[in-house]
Formats: sequence, C-alpha cells, structure tokens
Amino acid sequence: MTNPQILSLNDQDKTLCELPILTGSTGPDVVDVQALYKNTGMFTYDPGFNSTASCRSSITFIDGDLGVLLYRGYPIEQLAEHCTFLEVCHLLLNGELPNEEELKEFTHHVTMHTMVHDQLTNFFKGFRRDAHPMAIMVGVVGALSAFYHDTLDIRTKKDREISAIRLIAKVPTIVAMCHKYSVGMPFMYPQNKLSYVENFLRMMLATPCDDFVPNPVLVRALDRILILHADHEQNASTSTVRLAGSSGANPFACITAGIACLWGAAHGGANEAVLTMLEKIGDVSRIPEFIAKAKDKNDPFRLMGFGHRVYKNYDPRATLMRETCHEVLNELDLHDLKLFKLALELERIALEDDYFIQKKLYPNVDFYSGIVLHALGIPTNMFTAMFAMGRTVGWIAHWDEMIADPEQKIGRPRQLYTGAKPRDVPIKAK
Ligand code: CMC
Repeated sequence: MTNPQILSLNDQDKTLCELPILTGSTGPDVVDVQALYKNTGMFTYDPGFNSTASCRSSITFIDGDLGVLLYRGYPIEQLAEHCTFLEVCHLLLNGELPNEEELKEFTHHVTMHTMVHDQLTNFFKGFRRDAHPMAIMVGVVGALSAFYHDTLDIRTKKDREISAIRLIAKVPTIVAMCHKYSVGMPFMYPQNKLSYVENFLRMMLATPCDDFVPNPVLVRALDRILILHADHEQNASTSTVRLAGSSGANPFACITAGIACLWGAAHGGANEAVLTMLEKIGDVSRIPEFIAKAKDKNDPFRLMGFGHRVYKNYDPRATLMRETCHEVLNELDLHDLKLFKLALELERIALEDDYFIQKKLYPNVDFYSGIVLHALGIPTNMFTAMFAMGRTVGWIAHWDEMIADPEQKIGRPRQLYTGAKPRDVPIKAK
C-alpha cells in the first residue's frame, strides 16, 4: 500500500491497478473494486459475499465481533427498552425517531391502511388449506403489486412513502388472513381503535364468537420481537429486495422476493425449524444424541437457532429476546412445560460444549423468538411469516434508500465460468 487512501495491486514491480479505499462513518473500510475489471481484466470472487459491501447504506450498522446492532445510530438495546415498533418503523424509514405529533400522524396513516382490498381475499381461495403460510404470503403479497402499479411512480418520494405505509399496514392483515384461512375460520377485519400489535393479535386469535383480551406483557413481547427483526443490514432477504428493485420493479413484487428468500431455514425459517427440532428431540434425555449429531461432520444436522454469519461473539437481539422469553414464560407460568424445559436445557448444554464454544456458535434471536411465539399461541408454521411482518419495514427502507441513491445501478454480478470450453455442435449424419 503506497497511499493510505489507495490500495495498489502490484505484479512484481508493475502496478496493475490502484483501488480507492472508502471510509464509512464507523466499521471497516472498503476497497472500491469498480475499476478492477477495466484495468486488469479480472473479477473478484466472493461466494456468499463474506468480504463484499454491495452498497452504501445509512440505515443499520452491525459489529459482529462486538455484538453491536444500531438502527440509524441507536443501540438496539435502547430501542427495545424505550420505543414501540411503530416508532422504530418511523426511525428506519425517515432517519429519526418521531416526536409526539409525528408519531400520531404516522400511526394514523398506518392504521388507515390496514384493511386490504376486498378482491384480495379471493386470492386465498386458490390455495389448499394446508399450504404453507409462507407460500401464501409469496402469492398474496405479490398480488398487492396488481392493486398498486399503474398509479405508482417509484421515482417520486411521496409514492415510495405511501408504498411503505401500505406494506407496514397490510402485511399483518395478510399474515393473520393466512392463519385464519389455514384453520378454516373467517377473516377478522382490523380494528382502528387498537394498537398495531393488539390489532394483529386480535386478527390472529379472536373469532366472530370470541373476542380477544390483550395481555400487556404478551403485547409488549410481540412488539419487541418486531423491533428486533425490523432490520439487519444487507442480509440475504434485504439484498434480494435490493437486487429485485434495482431493475425498477414494483415495490410490492420486490418485497415478495424478500419474503421468498426469508423462507429458507438458514435465514427466517430458523424460528420454525427450532420448534420442529425441539419436538423431534422430544425429551431432555435425548439432547446429547442431537448435540453429537450437530458435531458430526458426516451428518447434515445443525442445531437450529445456533450460529450466525455476522455475530461471532453473541447476538445482541438474542440477549434481549432471552429476557422477553423468561418474562413471557413467567407471565403464563410455562417454565415447567416439557418443551420449554427442553429448550432451556439445550441452551445450557450447548453453551458449555467445547465444539460450540470454539466455533462461536451462540443461540441466535430465532432460538428464543420461536419459543416466545409458541408460548403466545402462534402456530409453528406461522413463525417465519411473523418474521416477515417485522422485517417488512427494513426491506422497504432499503428499497427506498436504493431507489434514491444516485449511484444506483441494476445489480448484475459476474461469475467464474467452469463449464465446457467453446465447441461445435456435432453434425448428425443424414
Ligand atoms: N450447528 C452445528 N454446527 C454449526 C452450526 C449449527 N447451528 N452453525 C454452524 N456450524 C458449524 C459448521 O458446520 C461449520 O463447521 P466447520 O468449520 O467444521 O465446517 C462452522 O460452524 C461454520 O459454519 P458456516 O456454515 O460456515 O457459518 P455461516 O456463517 O456460513 O452460517 C448460519 C451461519 C446461521 C447459516 C449457520 O450458523 C446455521 O446454519 N445456523 C442454523 C440456522 C439458524 O439458526 N439460522 C438463523 C440465523 S439468525 C436469523 C437471521 O438473521 O436470518
């Protein structure tokens, strides 16, 4: 390196390329490789993007080694303690926490958009009752693009704002409809007098025959789950939303791309996979058998809810979720229930095990959120849809930031081609 702002690529004495080093407001510097191909004819190779920054962003910062997560500069611990999910939504979308007046207006806008177009209810009828809720989410949230397309100009800030409000408002309604459809119950309309989370829980758990009485501890627990899942920098689903949006596609369709990506067990599907795993383990006596399976190189089994691509020390969201988990178990007097005992014992054993300590595999947020959602009475197959509900604001904030970014280009990675070299098609004898 000759100049602190430039990384020189040298081949013996010859400089092949000089790459600028960019410095953000905090976190590691990045090497700007945009000129690399032009000057050297080479691409970079980084499967899984372990060392690649795909964009500039001012929304969320993570320091995986120190276990730090900031939304717009604010530590997640403080936001989880002092704010509601809608305040966090305002923060992620607009860069600042709302004052009283702004919060009132923002809440009013969201509340006024919670109902979905009546035609949308027809989409559900095309699905089997036993379809996975995430499959229905992909279909129905994608269908929103048909309702808001011709009138939407994504280059206009106002149109992007209204799309964000519509998504934050309507996704919970659709999530609850997915559940009601799967159990053969009538859809519950939103109620404007309720808070965001109370309204969602009512749409999920009430029926026309039985109303829902909110328990403040459980309402706060779900609000916290949403805050902790609201954004996570350039994770797989957010990067998917950005890539889909980079072509100028409809935002509702882009969010659907994020939902599809989130579904995988290595990402948002983990909270559901945790519960499935706990049910499979079945009894505390079988934990050592499953720990051994997780450590066995020849066995594909992994301990679901453990490990993280970025957090190699601890997941700060997991610390907060663990606290909420105990609050909820206390409130509902569930500590002694077999499944919860099993989860807490698995956590204890894995945290003391050398394999997990050495590989820095700590429980992640989804280990505890799965347990909390189960305690709240949310069916296991709905867990990833709940994650999608929290992450919608993050996806749309990143989509908005990308569209407004003057450096924005269509996302188009290159590859290391390993297929057949050029060859001729054999001519068949006539
Ligand atoms: N159980 C057992 N071994 C594991 C686990 C696990 N849960 N996670 C990682 N390892 C091992 C892995 O086998 C590898 O071992 P070796 O070095 O001997 O080959 C080593 O740890 C590193 O794993 P990796 O797959 O290279 O790490 P990664 O950073 O690519 O993967 C992860 C991160 C989250 C995909 C992975 O830890 C995992 O599959 N965890 C279980 C699924 C899960 O809980 N996902 C939710 C993530 S949090 C929610 C979200 O943000 O989406």
